[in-house]
Amino acid sequence: MDAKDAAKIEAGFAKMSLGSARRHVFLCPGPECCAGEAGQASWEALKAACKAQGAATLRSKADCLRVCAGGPWLVVYPEGTWYGQASPERVERIVREHVVGGRPVAEWVVRTQPLAGAATPGPAGQ
Ligand code: FES
Repeated sequence: MDAKDAAKIEAGFAKMSLGSARRHVFLCPGPECCAGEAGQASWEALKAACKAQGAATLRSKADCLRVCAGGPWLVVYPEGTWYGQASPERVERIVREHVVGGRPVAEWVVRTQPLAGAATPGPAGQ
């Protein structure tokens, strides 16, 4: 990796506030698990809710989370909490109560599955 790439990588990490993130949220906006328009509305709601509520989280739009029915799907790590039918209204509450507040919205949780493996240190021991 050259110095230019290294600088871009560090800038990317800084931009996403990697060092202060407490959670990572993935959302699949379809098109197999839900209509693409509905999924896109949920993605926009996720971005807006995270911004409005100052959520210390990373968020990623997943191309597919491999469930492919009952979406949009939203997953919160490190808890491994899977929410189906994550409509914009549900997304706002999930962000408020779970992503920010730390309490999963139990009635909408379809599965809780933390990752089985232990954390692996990076090359710099991070
Ligand atoms: S398209 Fe959403 S889980 Fe596969």
